[in-house]
Amino acid sequence: MNDHAASLPLTETPIRVRNAAHNDDDHDTPLVTGTNVGHRFKNGPWLFSNLNFTLHTGEAIGLCGPSGSGKSTLLSIIAGFDNPSKGTVTREHVSRIRWVFQNPHGMPKRTAIDHVVQPLLGQGLTREQAEDEAVAIMSMFRLTHVAAREFSELSGGEAQRLMLARAIASKPDLLLVDEPTAQLDQHTANDIDATLTGLAQDDVIVIIATHDSNTRAACSRVIDLAWHDSASTAEGRMS
Ligand SMILES: Nc1ncnc2c1ncn2[C@@H]1O[C@H](COP(=O)(O)OP(=O)(O)OP(=O)(O)O)[C@@H](O)[C@H]1O
Ligand SMILES: [Mg+2]
Repeated sequence: MNDHAASLPLTETPIRVRNAAHNDDDHDTPLVTGTNVGHRFKNGPWLFSNLNFTLHTGEAIGLCGPSGSGKSTLLSIIAGFDNPSKGTVTREHVSRIRWVFQNPHGMPKRTAIDHVVQPLLGQGLTREQAEDEAVAIMSMFRLTHVAAREFSELSGGEAQRLMLARAIASKPDLLLVDEPTAQLDQHTANDIDATLTGLAQDDVIVIIATHDSNTRAACSRVIDLAWHDSASTAEGRMS
C-alpha cells in the first residue's frame, strides 16, 4: 500500500548538528508553504488540486483522506522527494527531514537503545552522552523498560514508538509520519496519537498521514484530501 513511500531511503540521510542558536532565533523557524498544489501520475486522474497550506512548528498537522486519495504522495511532495504536477511547495529553514514508515523497520538483533544512540553518535556525541540522551528520549516514548531488548522482541506499538524516538533523536525540522496506527490495536494507537501530538510542542513540523479518525482528532489541524476526489476527477476529465 505504501510502496511509493517505502522506496524513499530517508532514514539514511546525513546527520546535521543543530545550530545552538536555532531555538532562540525566529528567523530560523522551519516553514513549509504550498500554493495551488495539485498532482496526478502521468495521464491518471488528479489526486488533488488547488491545495494551499502553511505548515508551522508547534502543531501536528493531519493529512487525511481514504486509501488512494494521495496522502503518501502529498507527504513525498511536501518533503521535496517528488515535484507536484501543478503549483509549488517551498521549504524554509528545513535542513533535516525524517520519515517514519507505516511498518517499523529496525535491526532485529540490535537493542532498542542502539537504534536511538546511533543518530546521536552521528552528531558527534560521545557514547556516554549519546546513551544519556537516548534514555531521555526513550522515556518520552515510555520505552525505557525495553531499552536493552532486541528490536525483534518488541511489540508492534513499542517498535513503532522506537522509530519515532529514533527520528526525534536525529533532530529533524520536518517529521513526516505515514499511517502510524494502521496496524495497531486501539489502546496502542491511542498511545501513539498522544505521543505524536506531544512531539509537536518541540521545534519541529509534524505531519501525520492517516485515515484513522482518532489520529485525525488528535491533530491540531487537518488537510483533508477526501473532498478533493470529485473536483479533481472532474478536472482530470476536462484536461
Ligand atoms: N509512482 C506512482 N505511479 C503511478 N501511480 C501511483 C504512484 N504512486 C502512487 N500512485 C497511485 O496514486 C494514488 C494515491 O496513492 P497514495 O499512496 O498517495 O495514496 P494514500 O492516500 O497514501 O493511500 P493509503 O491510505 O492506501 O496509503 C493511488 O491510486 C496509487 O495507486
Ligand atoms: Mg499511504
